Amino acid sequence: MIRVGSIGLGGMGSHQARAFDGVDGCKLVAGADPSPEMRERFAGNFPDTQLFDSTEAIVNSGKVDAVVVAVPTGLHYAAVSTALAAGIPVLVEKPMARTVEECKRLNEEADRRNTVLMVAHCRRFDPYWKSWGAYVASGKLGAPILWRNAMAGFGPGRWYMDHEMGGGPLMDGAVHNYDFANFLFGDPESVLSSSVNLDPESTALDTCSAIVRYRNGNQLLMSWSWAARGNGLHDIIGPKGFIQFGTGDLPEPEDDMPHQYCCYTDREGEQTLIKSKSEPDMYAYQAEHFLSCVRGDVTCLSPGTEAIKAIAVADTILQAGPGGESREVSWT
Ligand SMILES: NC(=O)c1ccc[n+]([C@@H]2O[C@H](COP(=O)([O-])OP(=O)(O)OC[C@H]3O[C@@H](n4cnc5c(N)ncnc54)[C@H](O)[C@@H]3O)[C@@H](O)[C@H]2O)c1
Repeated sequence: MIRVGSIGLGGMGSHQARAFDGVDGCKLVAGADPSPEMRERFAGNFPDTQLFDSTEAIVNSGKVDAVVVAVPTGLHYAAVSTALAAGIPVLVEKPMARTVEECKRLNEEADRRNTVLMVAHCRRFDPYWKSWGAYVASGKLGAPILWRNAMAGFGPGRWYMDHEMGGGPLMDGAVHNYDFANFLFGDPESVLSSSVNLDPESTALDTCSAIVRYRNGNQLLMSWSWAARGNGLHDIIGPKGFIQFGTGDLPEPEDDMPHQYCCYTDREGEQTLIKSKSEPDMYAYQAEHFLSCVRGDVTCLSPGTEAIKAIAVADTILQAGPGGESREVSWT
């Protein structure tokens, strides 16, 4: 039985704790957070856990075999390196860390300690994203492929809109897409981006459009704002077909199991519904995979050595400035 501790007991830390509490092979035994309010709330939800006020205290307590880190992104490096230095396997929330340099040092430390460092890129474990990802990977859309995403809405605020601590939507929100595109397309090569800040209060870049180019010619188009209300656009297009997120002209699935679905349309206009069950959710699969990695049963599907590439994309976009520049992506 693997004893799991949760570091950072806010929104995502509590969500992760519930996921681990619900899977076999582990016991949620402890939590750590400097905030007495957050510790008290966590104790109310998980009364059998022991609470600590720092990362050092929980990882050196001898009470935990593995930890989940869900502190604000700018603090990931400190918490993860402390846990790794104690030889404790880590599942750290996305984004892996705030800079490529921090990610590099964490990967080196995990390597030195021969310890698991997995990054919670939950979409790699999402049955829905995996189901349409399999369509893309199978070649049904042809090549090259353009994955287009436009998102706009008022963001989570707080530390998320601080440049150093959260990095804004092009770091925190879009990192899911960078990582999944890396998963599907391979290594990113360069980005072309243009940005504008709409909110004078935000020290983070709040609005930006970027094209991430891959070595095989595929592209990820991201246009993201956490400072303006707007509609979302998502599709994936290729020379042999496209995927739209909805049912297309097809009816919704009628069976009683709740599904998430999208629609593949081929060159002739023939439509196929791609659907997957909503339960168990990606967090349960992700937790199970992390536990298997800790036991040494499987090769990690979301290691720090992969997640660093998503931070390289984000970091390159954040550093490019407002002017519409093309830059190489590098993580070595
Ligand atoms: N996978 C996802 O879809 C997803 C969704 C939301 C957030 N996240 C990520 O999860 C992480 C946490 O986000 P959140 O929304 O839960 O933040 P939050 O602000 O709700 O919670 C962060 C918690 O960390 C605590 N904390 C601060 N410093 C600490 C330290 N040194 N040691 C231990 N605890 C400390 C805070 O007191 C707070 O309770 C972020 O990296 C975020 O990007 C991921």
